This record gives sequence, C-alpha cells and structure tokens, in this order.
Amino acid sequence: MGVFDSGVGGLTVLHECLVTMPHEDFVYLGDHARLPYGPRPLAEVRRFAREIASYLQEQGVKLVVNACNTATSAALPQLQEQLDVPVVGVITPEAHAAVQATRNRRIGLLATEGTVEAGRYRELVHALDAGVDFLPVACPRLVPLIESDDPFGAKTTDAVREYAAPLKEAGVDTVILGCTHYPLIRPIFQRVFGRDVTLVFSAEETAQEVAQTLARKGYENDPAREGRYRFLTTGDPDAFREMGARFLQLPIADVEHVEVAALAAA
Ligand code: DGL
Repeated sequence: MGVFDSGVGGLTVLHECLVTMPHEDFVYLGDHARLPYGPRPLAEVRRFAREIASYLQEQGVKLVVNACNTATSAALPQLQEQLDVPVVGVITPEAHAAVQATRNRRIGLLATEGTVEAGRYRELVHALDAGVDFLPVACPRLVPLIESDDPFGAKTTDAVREYAAPLKEAGVDTVILGCTHYPLIRPIFQRVFGRDVTLVFSAEETAQEVAQTLARKGYENDPAREGRYRFLTTGDPDAFREMGARFLQLPIADVEHVEVAALAAA
C-alpha cells in the first residue's frame, strides 16, 4: 500500500495501519522538499498530490492512502478519478466521528489554512447534522513547529493555547484535530483542552477504512506473513530517518531519496 503526506504527519496514519494490518506491505512517501502544504494554493497542492499518487501507483501499490488533510481537502475526488487503485483519504472518518461524539452540537476544527479554506469538513459535518455550530481555526505555526528540532517545546504549547482559545470561548465539546501532524503532539492538546472536550483524530478510523476496503475487494495479503516497509522522502533521508523513528517509535533502517522531478514525471 502507498501512504503519503507532506512530511512526518502521515506516520500517525501509517502507525495505525501497521497495528491493524501487520501482514501488509507499505511504501511511505514524505514530500519534505515541498513542506508545508498548508499555506499553498489548493490547486498547487492538488498537483503535488496527483504526482505523488501516480508515482506510488507506478511502484505497484494496491491502494493509496492520502494521509494529509490538506491534500485530501484539495484533491481526493480528483485522485479517485485519476487512479486505477482505490484511494482513501483522512477527512470523512473524522467528520463522522465528531458528529457522533458531540453532545452540545458545537464542533471546533484545528487544521492548516488550506484545509480550513477548502471547507470540506464543514460540508461533511453539515451533511450529517445541519444544526451543528462549526468553528474552524487555521493554525499556520503548528506544522513547522512539529517538524522542527523542538516539537514539544514552549513555542508549541503557546501556539496550541492561542489556537485553542476561540474554541474554548465558544464552548465546543468536540474538536477535530484536522491535520495528520497534530497527533504527534497529542498530550499538549489534551492538557490545553482538558478532559471534557473530545479530541477527534483520523488515524485509527482511516486504518479501519483501509482494512475494510482491502477485505471487501479481496485484496488482502496472507495474514500469516509479515509486512515489509519502505520509506521515501523528497527531502533529507537522514533527517527523516531520525524524526520518523522518534514519532513512529520504530527503527527505520533505510530511507530512500526521491527527486521531485521523478514525481512530476509520473
Ligand atoms: N500533514 C498535513 C495535513 O494533514 C499538512 C501539513 C502541511 O504540510 O502543511 O494537513
């Protein structure tokens, strides 16, 4: 299976996939050379997502997981139209889980500017319950901080407090962490919001959707075998290896470098 993100955030989705499907093979691609996607125009992110998904399809994967909320917001339907293999994104499972979880029908969203601008969460939440008050907040500083040398430092806590403030003031009881990077600093969100607010992440639900898609289509590997993993980045392989091992808590032996031009050629 192919899994991609702009950086290390999609590893949160990969982790849940490894737990759910240890017998499957995975190729993970982080587009570090072009990170962050959040501030870019949606049309540009759509182009990147199409290049990467085509590249992964050429590698022979049987399903592609778009493990980036910004890229899912920008491009999921286009990828599904374009590829021959199934494509699973990360937004729908979270919107569904949030509508089920809220009791006061006030849901907040923390995400990148691109994800907020695309408005897909609002559409999906309102398709399920048109009476929900939906409050999106764009968090431009979080992804660069999570990808930095000090992801758990005071700057990150300050930024989370600032972005959470309008949601706390509005009394939301459910917050969608609508960016695959955010679970990497989950304890910070939990401390800032406290116990009474339900935090919704996509990784687990997305892994379930992937597993069900494989089962229904009869694409599963033999459950007795052990899966193999490949890690690719358009950026610096050593930096990705170090950060990937820290966040995934799995030793990553080899990281292969892929030129952005190779993606564009796919
Ligand atoms: N991990 C991505 C997301 O889920 C994007 C982060 C970024 O590149 O801005 O939105």
